[in-house]
Amino acid sequence: MTQTHADTGFVHVFEPGADPARKPLLLLHGTGGDERDLLALGRAVAPGASLLSPRGKVLEGTAPRFFRRLAEGVFDEQDLIRRTHELGDFIEQARARYGLPAPIAVGFSNGANIAASLLLLRPQALAGAALLRAMTPFRHPAPADLAGKPVLLLSGLLDPVVPAADSAGLAALLAKNGAAVEQRSLPAGHGLSQADIGLLTDWLARH
Ligand code: MLT
Repeated sequence: MTQTHADTGFVHVFEPGADPARKPLLLLHGTGGDERDLLALGRAVAPGASLLSPRGKVLEGTAPRFFRRLAEGVFDEQDLIRRTHELGDFIEQARARYGLPAPIAVGFSNGANIAASLLLLRPQALAGAALLRAMTPFRHPAPADLAGKPVLLLSGLLDPVVPAADSAGLAALLAKNGAAVEQRSLPAGHGLSQADIGLLTDWLARH
């Protein structure tokens, strides 16, 4: 059953899962997406998992996002901090409301960037994160306790939005803070490929 709610501060979909052994997924869409964008992906990569999928509250023109940016890849860090805590609060409220353990974030692009920010600012909000085409969210990130937190980072070797050095820097930053990072660079652009789906499915089956 799919339900859409606006009364926890974010328009979102919650889809209860049939498999209690699966951790819930927090699905975070890219720029211009919405709460329905990643539902089919979530069902495919983690069959039976509960899905919690909010819509980003910031509008760039008509395109929903999770935080403001000044230009492509140049973030309004004050807004990012505020929006990260807002999303962290939403996760806590949704967990209480739906009776969920901490979710694993599956974020794409802008959604992956706020998931990386959640890891750094609200590490207890997530059981782990799969970051698809993510960038380093802060120029001078403060240390965070990510001891043992599983993180999958999937980057595209041909990605025009995220330079390879940037995703490598994010992997190093998360690992330095103790996260158990697996990073793979794929022969892909900014969009997802079949290889992403396969790697994500395998990784989720292990976490
Ligand atoms: C961002 O703004 O988060 C990145 O530039 C990725 C994007 O959404 O295009």
